Amino acid sequence: MREKIAILLDEIHRFEAESKDQLEAFRIKYLSKKGLIPALFDNFKQVLPEERKEIGKLLNELKQKAQEIIELQQECFAETTQKKIKIDTSLPAITFSGGRHPLSIVRREINSIFERQGFVIAEGPEIEDDFHNFSALNFPADHPARDMQDTFFIHKYPDVALRTHTSSVQVRVMEQGKLPVRIIAPGRVFRNEAISARAHCIFHQVEGLYIDKDVSFADLKQTLYYFAREFFGVETKIRFRPSYFPFTETSAEMDVSCNICGGKGCNICKYSGWVEILGCGMVDPNVLEACGIDSNIYSGYAFGMGIERITMMKYQINDLRLFFENDLRFLKQFETLV
Ligand code: PHE
Repeated sequence: MREKIAILLDEIHRFEAESKDQLEAFRIKYLSKKGLIPALFDNFKQVLPEERKEIGKLLNELKQKAQEIIELQQECFAETTQKKIKIDTSLPAITFSGGRHPLSIVRREINSIFERQGFVIAEGPEIEDDFHNFSALNFPADHPARDMQDTFFIHKYPDVALRTHTSSVQVRVMEQGKLPVRIIAPGRVFRNEAISARAHCIFHQVEGLYIDKDVSFADLKQTLYYFAREFFGVETKIRFRPSYFPFTETSAEMDVSCNICGGKGCNICKYSGWVEILGCGMVDPNVLEACGIDSNIYSGYAFGMGIERITMMKYQINDLRLFFENDLRFLKQFETLV
């Protein structure tokens, strides 16, 4: 008896059904009324009284094991049939919820406005050398922007740093020597500044560059006027104030009429009616020459704006840090925009 139990137990352990039918055959063979295990129970009467306790226990264990194995393997088959049902190729695709980050929404809008004017998007590395970020752009060797205060250096001598503006992309495009150039360079930039509601050590810019024969400041004005009206609305006015950048001559800063109060004066525009949004100017001949372009034949304009700033203006956001905190309560407010 004991041997028989051991043999059946061994068989049961080895059993692995490949189909539901096989599993049913197994159940009939071992557990049905005329099956092998009930047959053993029938023989139990012949077991010697002193062995009954032990054999009885073994028999019960055998029966239990067989039932367990059937149940377990039934589950497997049940699961696969369920899985088959789950894949219904006729169902419509699952749509994901979520939205774009406000900075992405605005970057895409800026790109699209300039693409409509014939600009092409250019990209460059976020880790730059001194030449592309400073020297080629006519920064004097002792210019304060090169100082540790502003720039995150990766190592010095030779200078490798995180780019402080996407003007470095303009240099890379000019170097390729394919003229005319009409590009915008959107991207992330880095400056060693204290983080506050108005400044961050990481932010985003879109810079533009147009180089051809006979490019004038009037072309620059018209391009930016078109941008301002498309972005802030057709009522928007622009004005230019003289400024200074090492890489442009003449240089200017452009203000737009405040989109909150329409120019009447409010706390956003500090009651002036105007908000500064970008720097621009005619590319300095020294920059063209440093990039291998003949400044006697070609001229060009450049401009650069911070995406955070105009996003804050457009959506009346008063703390720049919100862009980098990924707080869903903030981000969800932009979900319906594209
Ligand atoms: N590169 C300048 C900045 O980061 C912006 C700028 C670009 C100004 C092009 C003039 C012309 O502040």
